[in-house]
Amino acid sequence: MIEHCNKLHVMDHPLIQHKISCLRNIETNTKDFRQLVSEIALLIGYEATRELPLVPREIETPICKTMGGFLEKQVCLVPVLRAGLGMVEAMLNLLPAARVGHVGLYRDPKTFEPVEYYCKVPPDIADRIAIILDPMLATGGSSVAAIKCLKDRGATRIKMMNIIGVPQGVEKVLSAHPDVDIYLGALDEKLNEHNYIVPGLGDAGDRLFGTL
Ligand code: PRP
Ligand code: URA
Repeated sequence: MIEHCNKLHVMDHPLIQHKISCLRNIETNTKDFRQLVSEIALLIGYEATRELPLVPREIETPICKTMGGFLEKQVCLVPVLRAGLGMVEAMLNLLPAARVGHVGLYRDPKTFEPVEYYCKVPPDIADRIAIILDPMLATGGSSVAAIKCLKDRGATRIKMMNIIGVPQGVEKVLSAHPDVDIYLGALDEKLNEHNYIVPGLGDAGDRLFGTL
């Protein structure tokens, strides 16, 4: 049972489930993995951007004048290095005016604690909706650290997009940051003894960049 569950949005679209099944497959090669991560990011991104406010402005169609709704330059995408990079291009296709910040984190292989090595975000992050991109939400340590890194720099409106997560990680994030909305492609069962997601897809960064 996940608390704060109105902040957790698990995708139930068959296109997303089909693509995640292909992504999980050990036979999927690096090129196809990269392509699938991008396609899934776009589909989750469609949901994660559902509540972006529109600014009304008058336009003229070939027929008459009317009011249109427009997105302002209001989003900052924040991929978590490395694997989050695989989700950036698709999101920029949806939101070409978005700024892009970067948070560099890796999990210490012994303690599984996140180690931060980079954080660079636009100076107006406080005025933007930050959307953190990371395919995997496992223990939640990296996500909690990424959110803190953005809050320390002034971000107040934060969403997170992950392709696969587990209840333990979701709980950890929402306990530390109950104001953050999480958009998940799939909610898996559990973590194994190495804190990898089960069934999961293995190491997202390694599969994305061919460093297995
Ligand atoms: C992966 C993944 C997340 C993190 C999730 O990155 O992309 O950032 O693990 O694990 P957690 O929820 O237990 O913190 P990894 O540490 O493998 O770094 P990499 O992308 O540089 O390989
Ligand atoms: N990071 C990954 O890349 N995969 C997992 O299953 C857990 C953390």
